[in-house]
Amino acid sequence: MKKKIVLFASVTIALAACQTAPKEDYSWIKKSLDVASAQLKLSAEEVESTGRLPRSIRTGYDMEFLCRQLERDSLTFKDSLRAQPSKEELGNRRLSNVYDWTSGFFPGSLWYAYELTGNDTLKSQAVYYTNLLNPVRYYKGTHDLGFMINCSYGNAERLAPNDTIAAVMKETADNLCGRFNESIGCIRSWDFGTWNFPVIIDNMMNLDLLFNVSKATGDNKYKDVAIKHAVTTMKHHFRPDYTSWHVISYNNDGTVERKQTHQGKNDDSSWARGQAWAVYGYTSCYREVNDTTFLNFAVNIADMIMERVKTEDAIPYWDYDAPVTAETPRDVSAASVTAAAFLELSTMVPDGKKYFDYAEKILKSLSSDAYLAKVGENQGFILMHSVGSLPNGSEIDTPLNYADYYYLEALKRYMDLKKLKIEHGELKVIG
Ligand code: GLY
Repeated sequence: MKKKIVLFASVTIALAACQTAPKEDYSWIKKSLDVASAQLKLSAEEVESTGRLPRSIRTGYDMEFLCRQLERDSLTFKDSLRAQPSKEELGNRRLSNVYDWTSGFFPGSLWYAYELTGNDTLKSQAVYYTNLLNPVRYYKGTHDLGFMINCSYGNAERLAPNDTIAAVMKETADNLCGRFNESIGCIRSWDFGTWNFPVIIDNMMNLDLLFNVSKATGDNKYKDVAIKHAVTTMKHHFRPDYTSWHVISYNNDGTVERKQTHQGKNDDSSWARGQAWAVYGYTSCYREVNDTTFLNFAVNIADMIMERVKTEDAIPYWDYDAPVTAETPRDVSAASVTAAAFLELSTMVPDGKKYFDYAEKILKSLSSDAYLAKVGENQGFILMHSVGSLPNGSEIDTPLNYADYYYLEALKRYMDLKKLKIEHGELKVIG
């Protein structure tokens, strides 16, 4: 008995020695996690009865402002403009159904917040909102299946796996592979529009679902599709300076039909979120495939981003080629995606510190009052000031659920690298 008490005491002392209060000031992380948890819980409660998911806040647009940002005449783009929100909608939460491309981000944010804080309410809410997406397993109409299911069910599989989750992941990956064209070497992105076979740079983000299902099932066919897609995209989607076009449409023989933008300033501009999707996507490919071609490509894109983003706080304007004036909106979503990617990339190269430092700068900016919401404000979203699609007049300078998701993912990666953990409500250094 005495022996047992002594053993218990020494284990307790050893554990205490392993968990210390951090020497650096990480109060910004604690504050961000407190805000994130409170905002997510609030949204989850408020939205639950609708069976829908929080996406953004409805904003309107001013035609003159759009013309100035696009440096175009209204006649050249007025057909693509979305309807202005009604008076009742303006400033209120925009909800989406489960087939919207953003449906996985809210449940995914709840999973990350649960993982980072250990809070059980967040876990129950994550389970509830993830289950809403179950019918997506039968959907074949978009490449966004990867975003939708990997961010929701993918995180559920990591944190609370069961057979249903695995089945949803596999069925969705099968449907995503069904959009792959062998002669073109890509997964088709969209089924709308006049393009023959449109592929957008965002599609690189859908590959993680395929990598995960390959690992879970032991079947390499998913991974093979992902690799072929990444290789074809590397060939056609990038300019010599490593900036990316948004949309490449292919002819049936795999030659390029058109190079365009849908959400950027113009076809040859560098849309900020597109560059972020690109660096994230190739970093993931290197993690999964260990081929240095992908790593070198990710490094070149990352260096281009650091070269091109000239804002003091490292939060990019919505398009790198937008005219910079006092009214030019920044895109926080591009910044959070970049931070998440850079933190992972920082672990893969000998001079990774420069990517880590850049990501840390982004995270500190996002965690400041300039971007982080106050609890109870911002319609329950965590971050302010993103841009969805400026040329469509949609979601300009507003919160976006994917900005929140990748912010939490980046915080998780940052905390893992710094060995930080929340224990009993306190931020501790582990190890
Ligand atoms: N995948 C759509 C976007 O980035 O807006």
